[in-house]
Amino acid sequence: MERPTYVFSDGAAYERLMGRWSRRAGAEFLEWLGPARDLDWIDVGCGNGAFTAEVMRRSSPRTVLGVDPSDGQIAYAKSRDDAVGARFEIGDAMDLPARAAAFDVATMALVLAFVPDPQKGAAELARVLRPGGIAAAYMWALPGGAPIAPLWQAMAEIGVPVALPPSAHWIEPERMSALWTGAGLRRVEATTLRIDVEFEGVADYWEIVTAPGGPRGKEFAEMAPDAKGRLRARLDEILVPGADGSVRFRCRAHAVKGVA
Ligand SMILES: C[S@@+](CC[C@H](N)C(=O)[O-])C[C@H]1O[C@@H](n2cnc3c(N)ncnc32)[C@H](O)[C@@H]1O
Repeated sequence: MERPTYVFSDGAAYERLMGRWSRRAGAEFLEWLGPARDLDWIDVGCGNGAFTAEVMRRSSPRTVLGVDPSDGQIAYAKSRDDAVGARFEIGDAMDLPARAAAFDVATMALVLAFVPDPQKGAAELARVLRPGGIAAAYMWALPGGAPIAPLWQAMAEIGVPVALPPSAHWIEPERMSALWTGAGLRRVEATTLRIDVEFEGVADYWEIVTAPGGPRGKEFAEMAPDAKGRLRARLDEILVPGADGSVRFRCRAHAVKGVA
């Protein structure tokens, strides 16, 4: 069976669908990180630059390099008017296109679960940091803490298999801390962030999580109409709208940081 793809290839679709969650979660993460100003950053798995733009807005970096394997995402990132001044390059977390000891802060925002070898990814963050630099990552607490969790619950309940990203089992504070310590980082700390998400209604949520541009778009395009109908009906039961029709729930993300 063909493996589902977990990588958004379309930066504009990511912005419309996931950008609003990643910006909100990214802001919480940066708040926790509390970095100084005027630092040199590398943002690994930068995608379409949504988090990179938050870094520029909130942390006044000196320089920022965003790296992602998706050319579609990088092309969008380069076109963002809220990330002017950042550089973006194609590259992989496990083999960063950067020399050693070149940055003060190295981040992976919503990326760790997608990296096939997170130990290599953590080692690469440590390698490119100057002594005293900070390596930090955060990821939705999979599976129950992610914005997509209600959809996954509905899928499981109607018997549609849910495939988690390849390194989802690394996403818990103890394992992320172990990754950081194993990469030689010191003063390692982990936490769990809580992020409230809201949607105009169940239809809005449905549109977002099943959109063709999303990581599950192909699966939904191929799903039989009756299965789609059952899934939507189950979701209507799981997501109970408030008096104004909106749907709100609290997500969780685990975060880790350490010093090189
Ligand atoms: C959910 S997006 C997060 C994007 C961005 N960091 C944000 O916070 O909005 C996950 C990103 O991880 C990237 N990715 C997947 N595998 C990767 C790898 N091996 N190395 C670096 N990035 C990777 C994907 O291309 C995608 O852009």
